[in-house]
Amino acid sequence: MLSLIIHGGAWDIPEQEIEAHTNGITTALTIGWRMLKSGANAVDTVEKVVSSLEDDGTFDAGKGSHLNADGRIELDASMMNGKTLRCGAVAAVHHVKNPISLARKIMEQSEHILLVGAGAENFALEQGMSLCSHKELISQRELNKWKAFQASHDFSTKDAFKKSNQPSDTVGAVAMDTNGDICVGTSTGGTFNKHPGRVGDSPLIGCGTYADNEIGGVSTTGWGEAMMKIVMAKTVIDFLEQNGGDIHKAATKGVDLLKRKVDGYGGVIVMNNKGEVGVAYNTPRMARAYITEQMIEPIITV
Ligand code: GLY
Repeated sequence: MLSLIIHGGAWDIPEQEIEAHTNGITTALTIGWRMLKSGANAVDTVEKVVSSLEDDGTFDAGKGSHLNADGRIELDASMMNGKTLRCGAVAAVHHVKNPISLARKIMEQSEHILLVGAGAENFALEQGMSLCSHKELISQRELNKWKAFQASHDFSTKDAFKKSNQPSDTVGAVAMDTNGDICVGTSTGGTFNKHPGRVGDSPLIGCGTYADNEIGGVSTTGWGEAMMKIVMAKTVIDFLEQNGGDIHKAATKGVDLLKRKVDGYGGVIVMNNKGEVGVAYNTPRMARAYITEQMIEPIITV
């Protein structure tokens, strides 16, 4: 069954940002659904969908990502192919417009799974990808936010990350193509004002992303340090396998565990091996959209 589910972050998305989030996920879902309907495979579809979210400027991924404590953007992304269990990931890059495309290159062209920093950017060049200027990734909105934060001298970020309203606009997608193959991709700029070099859950296979054709696919969004402690994406996949593929139970159990074990906040999108999709989150809002072959219209909600 053709199926596509995407997310654009789980947090207390303010009223004035709802329209931009809705538009961003609508555009990405429309691009991806057209591709799947015209026979594109899940890997191509996920790359395009996540790239659209990275380019949008609304989300904490690609252009418009949060700045770190040095006032720089450091991007992370990962992709996993559920047919082969091959995966690729990139972390802490400063000059890559679409980290999801670099994650795919690593998945398909490298013997490694995770490349970081300058080494990852050199690999991009070796593969014929072009790098962008760091300035190109910075939005005025994020620069203003970062400057205001520096001026406030409130550096109590450790606890702030625990709050359900801490901006968390990581993006992700899970697709199933006409062959029943599943692919998952996740991309992020990480947490606001993070320590330079900090890497969260999104580029870690099993934490931010997991795909296995036999079971399903999961992409996460939220407080990365908490997600990592319970290996969120693989944990939800394991719940899915244990309960016979009930997406709602698996997603809810994952988010309940996140809160109970590590006092974490965030959300997950889940697809099972039949292409059924589900969502769970414990933040005030989560931007998500999905459509399957059995639906006439997509569901798009923030
Ligand atoms: N979930 C994204 C991050 O914490 O980096």
